[in-house]
Amino acid sequence: MNPTRAEIDLKKLEHNYNSIKDFIRGKNGRGKVKICGVVKANAYGHGIQEISRKLISLGADYLGVANYDEAIKLRSVIPDSNILVFGTLIHSKLKPSAYVSKLLKYNLIATVASLDTAKFLDYYSGRLGRKFKVHIKIDTGLKRIGFDVKRAFKNIEHIFGYKNLEIEGIYTHFATSESGDKSFAKHQLNRFYDLLEMLRKAGMKIPIVHSANSGAILNIKDSFFDMVRPGLLLYGYYPSDDLRNKIDLKPIMNLKSKVTYIKRVDANTSISYGRKFFTDKRSFIGSVPIGYGDGYWRAFSNIGKAGIGGRLYPIAGTITMDWLMLYLGVKSPVRIGDDVLLMGSDDENYLGADKLAKIAKTIPYEILCAVADRVQRVYI
Ligand SMILES: Cc1ncc(COP(=O)(O)O)c(C=O)c1O
Repeated sequence: MNPTRAEIDLKKLEHNYNSIKDFIRGKNGRGKVKICGVVKANAYGHGIQEISRKLISLGADYLGVANYDEAIKLRSVIPDSNILVFGTLIHSKLKPSAYVSKLLKYNLIATVASLDTAKFLDYYSGRLGRKFKVHIKIDTGLKRIGFDVKRAFKNIEHIFGYKNLEIEGIYTHFATSESGDKSFAKHQLNRFYDLLEMLRKAGMKIPIVHSANSGAILNIKDSFFDMVRPGLLLYGYYPSDDLRNKIDLKPIMNLKSKVTYIKRVDANTSISYGRKFFTDKRSFIGSVPIGYGDGYWRAFSNIGKAGIGGRLYPIAGTITMDWLMLYLGVKSPVRIGDDVLLMGSDDENYLGADKLAKIAKTIPYEILCAVADRVQRVYI
């Protein structure tokens, strides 16, 4: 069996979930802020089905996914929890009524970010004699999808006229929630508050208002409303250094492999493609069957480190699609079959996705999501 695997610790997920819950609701369980666990992109690379099952068992009120394909796949293992689809509805190749009937059958909650979508869902739900649950998306500044907050009131009034839609929620999404500079996030929030106030005055009641992703949960208290939508925090990482340690989190994934080949090479021997690394002495090189095809970035070539038996060993040369090589030194205790930690942490070493993200000049989100499908997920 391929020794490369992602070990995912569901106890740590529980720890992170409870840290978020305590933070938003207060230690004594004050308040009733709901939690929508964000499990899109295969639960940020952790495996959507198992992570979702665990979140539901912990009491998560909603699961958030990016698109209808993810939602349908998720429904097969989560028969009756709320699944909110953040993405747009792309009219499928199926006949529209068959498509809407399928989405209704899977009992999904749609995001409505345009009148077109509202009209489409209303019309076909009506023909099926059903109501479609929707959350209205408001663009307060991210400029991704959503009704422009300045013109949203009229559109929402219109949507209230659609009798086959059940307007369950309204939400927005921040552009800079994790930043130490809160000015733009506050600007977005104020625009959202103004709209909510207009709706309230007009008697348009929407039960679930939400806006907070991980950054906002830690950074912007007034953003909680009725529900928060944590993603990254669940997986054990902070969205920025500014927010580090506001709550206690534990990274839940350890990306591991094993040393499966060791050789001794002469001094001045080049290792791997492009000859970017040369040994200085006669020394040992270990080969590990993980590469960028597994989602371990080529950017770590020659600068990354891997943990074996509590020690860190440098990556020697270019990371290839299926292999990387480690410089084990002139004398080495490392043996074939030894476990290798590439991402995550053990008692001695920290190689978290946040640390790797700095090396690769990216964000921990991208490091986690990159872990490829071919890497077996093992749940602990
Ligand atoms: C609409 C929406 N809500 C919540 C999240 C969760 O974000 P985070 O992982 O920063 O908590 C995302 C992810 O990008 C999102 O797109």
